[in-house]
Amino acid sequence: MKKLICIILLSVLLPAMSYAEDTHKHKGQAKASGVEVLSPDLRNLLSKEMKALQDGMMSIIPAYVSGNWSEIETTAEKIKNSYILKQSLTKSQVKELHSVLSPEFFEKDQKFHYLAGMLEHAAQSKKPELINFYFSEMNKSCASCHGVFATHKFPALIPVTKDEHVH
Ligand code: HEC
Repeated sequence: MKKLICIILLSVLLPAMSYAEDTHKHKGQAKASGVEVLSPDLRNLLSKEMKALQDGMMSIIPAYVSGNWSEIETTAEKIKNSYILKQSLTKSQVKELHSVLSPEFFEKDQKFHYLAGMLEHAAQSKKPELINFYFSEMNKSCASCHGVFATHKFPALIPVTKDEHVH
C-alpha cells in the first residue's frame, strides 16, 4: 500500500519538478540568447528584418478594416519569404546564425513563416475570420520568440517563474 502511495506521489511530483526545471532553463536561455554576439553586419540585417516585419504587420490593420484582401495577401507573402534576412544572407552568415543561435530559434522562425503562409492563404480565400485568426497567431509568435531571444530589448517579456510569484 505504502509503495502504491509512493508511486502515486512520484507520478504527480515528477512532472511538476520537470516543469519547474523547464521554466528555469527557459530563463537561463533568455539571458544568453546569443543574438548579442552576432557579428555587427548580421545583427544589422536581423534588426532591419524585424523593422520590416513590424511595418508589414502594421499595414495589415488598415487593409483588414477596408477589406483589402489582396494587399494582405501580398504582405503575408513577403513576410513568408522574409523581407531581407533569408534573401540576402551569405553562406557564412547562415553558418554563423546556426552556430550562435539554438535550434529553438529556428523552430520559432519556421512556425512564424508557416503562419505567414496561412495568412496569405486566408487572404487569398477572402476569409476575414481566418485572416484575423492568423494575424493574431502571428502576433503571438513575435512575442513568443522575443520572450526567449530578445529579452535584452523587451525585458517585459521575460517569462515569470513560479518562485518569483511567492515573494
Ligand atoms: C524567431 C524569432 C523572432 C520572431 C518570430 C520575431 N522576432 Fe522580432 N526580434 C527577434 C530578436 C532576436 C530581436 C533582437 C535583435 C537584436 O537585438 O539585435 C528582435 C527584435 C525586434 C525588434 C526591435 C528591432 C530593433 O533593432 O530595434 C522589432 C521591432 C521586432 N523584433 C518586431 C517583430 C515583429 C513585429 C515580429 C512578428 C511579426 C517579430 N519581431 C518576430 C526575434 C524574433
